[in-house]
Amino acid sequence: MVRYRYKKQNQDCNKTISSGKDKKFMCGIVGYVGKDKALSVLIQGLKRLEYRGYDSAGIAIRDINGKISICKAVGRVNDLEKKLRYDASGNLGIGHTRWATHGGVTVNNCHPHHVGKVTIVHNGILENYLELKTILCNEGYNFYGDTDTEVACAYIDYVYKNNSSSEIKDILEKCMNIFVGSYAIVGMIEDYDSELFVMKKDSPLIIALGDNGTYVASDISAYANDTKEYVPLEDMEYGTIMDNEIHIYKNNKELELLFNTLDVTNNEEGLQGFNHYMLKEIYEQKDLVSKWYNRYFNNHEIDSLVNMNDFKKIHIVGCGTAYHAGMVGKYLLEYYGDIEVQVFIASEYRYQKLFIDKDTLVIFISQSGETADTLACIKKVKEYGVMTLGIVNVENSSIARIVDKVIYTKALSEVAVASTKAYTAQVYVLSMLALKMALANDKLEIVDVKDFYLNLSNLIDKALNYDYKHIIDLIWKQEHMFYLGRNIDYVTMMEGSLKLKEISYIHSEAMAAGELKHGTISLMDEHSCILVMATLERLANKTISNIKEVKSRGAKVILLIREDISNNLDSDCYDEVILLPKGCYFTQPIINIVYLQMIAYEVAKRLGLDIDKPRNLAKSVTVE
Ligand code: F6R
Repeated sequence: MVRYRYKKQNQDCNKTISSGKDKKFMCGIVGYVGKDKALSVLIQGLKRLEYRGYDSAGIAIRDINGKISICKAVGRVNDLEKKLRYDASGNLGIGHTRWATHGGVTVNNCHPHHVGKVTIVHNGILENYLELKTILCNEGYNFYGDTDTEVACAYIDYVYKNNSSSEIKDILEKCMNIFVGSYAIVGMIEDYDSELFVMKKDSPLIIALGDNGTYVASDISAYANDTKEYVPLEDMEYGTIMDNEIHIYKNNKELELLFNTLDVTNNEEGLQGFNHYMLKEIYEQKDLVSKWYNRYFNNHEIDSLVNMNDFKKIHIVGCGTAYHAGMVGKYLLEYYGDIEVQVFIASEYRYQKLFIDKDTLVIFISQSGETADTLACIKKVKEYGVMTLGIVNVENSSIARIVDKVIYTKALSEVAVASTKAYTAQVYVLSMLALKMALANDKLEIVDVKDFYLNLSNLIDKALNYDYKHIIDLIWKQEHMFYLGRNIDYVTMMEGSLKLKEISYIHSEAMAAGELKHGTISLMDEHSCILVMATLERLANKTISNIKEVKSRGAKVILLIREDISNNLDSDCYDEVILLPKGCYFTQPIINIVYLQMIAYEVAKRLGLDIDKPRNLAKSVTVE
């Protein structure tokens, strides 16, 4: 067995690998070659990837007579199982869960695709597939679906047919020189009875070793129970996988693979009595903040964090919830670090003009560590020679591997599509970076904030046990919601609003409270419902004035206000009020978001929705 790989040693934090379902991608790939029946291994793997969200599934097995049998179904892996009719005696196969990008949700578009002698599954997007399709049509190929994957499959077959005396690796290399876009491809060629082939660019793919064979998957969680050693492939790597041999190449040179050991310790599997993963993960925050307290305050990890004072400005880049965490970070870092911070949405940043140099620190935030837009931004800024810092949850993920330094958020695996504890973990890390600057700048001393962090667990507990019924009564039938706040409350509301819309499907918009009267107030009438947050003493009165403006137009107002600043509150200015416990500037956003997470969860629950797998969403977005 050839098993080797270089291991990058650039990171400054603990590098153990979490085994749970914490790497999440849009489509799922599984592959197996070994001594067990491939069918059961693959179905098992697909089931473990179900959490990520998908709309169809398929499987291809090579049986002992060399025949390749394919079964595909729209819907769940259970639907696929019901359709399986063939005798699954083979030990070699591939499987896929598809989240539609090119072409609708149909059996024809579902993977695996089979053309000529080649069968493949594919994650990513082949950007030049139309161009290749034209070439292939002229060569006599017919297509039955609309996917780029069918074209990729046909192209591999075409190159194979024209170079049948070549080794598989040479066929793959030729194809990779032509393919444009992102791909993790696993496939079989009919003439090869005991090997799978793999090729990877900009979409994750791992190879893992088990006692009974070799596994390949887009996400280690597919096989975390069967394997202890795995290696993530890097871009432009390709090769073949057998039961006892693995050969991986780059630029026609075979590579040494160094396998990582899977750490299965820290991830608790299953719902553990909760009805949904989202609720379980919201609750986990209570214990996690204590663990993080130990990490940074008792074990002094704050001392080993990047020294931000070495830089003149900071850019923070992320998508969705990670972007919102970055926004919280901006307020904290600017306030305590006196440093200019700009926050960018990765899909914009990757195409915009950048004004960065060696005095700029660029921070990338990502739960999965695999988000395509964020990854592309890292590759882009590297050309400027800037220092890159990743704040990442999934250890050894693509983003964690390519940044100069990484801080692992240690939120453990997050299964629900709507991110909760990973967001809190990101904010916690950013608050530590800001605190480190504040200490260095003599803005405060650690004793000024330590107890606020220590007390976080109790205050989160309060949020978990709050009775939200009256609040949910007001929200659950709304078609539109508005989330208002100022300063750091505003950006917390951005995240709260995203949580509501992604799992309840209620349209929701967050805005700076002072901005309302510059346009959006025209929408306010007796049917409107507004959630307002006011937890900053110096700005609370201004926010209250803003809600009076909407209240006087008949809108329903739910006010979340810090208990200790609510004394002289005019009860006419709200319909429902939640009194929030007091934190400090660093910890208040963490307390506040738990209330908003609970509100989103309770609304979706009242509506009877599929909370952990909201429609159209994938846990992490590995295509552009
Ligand atoms: C929302 C959510 C998404 C992700 C975004 C970035 O609940 O989870 O908005 O935050 O897709 O994903 P990561 O953090 O994996 O880069």
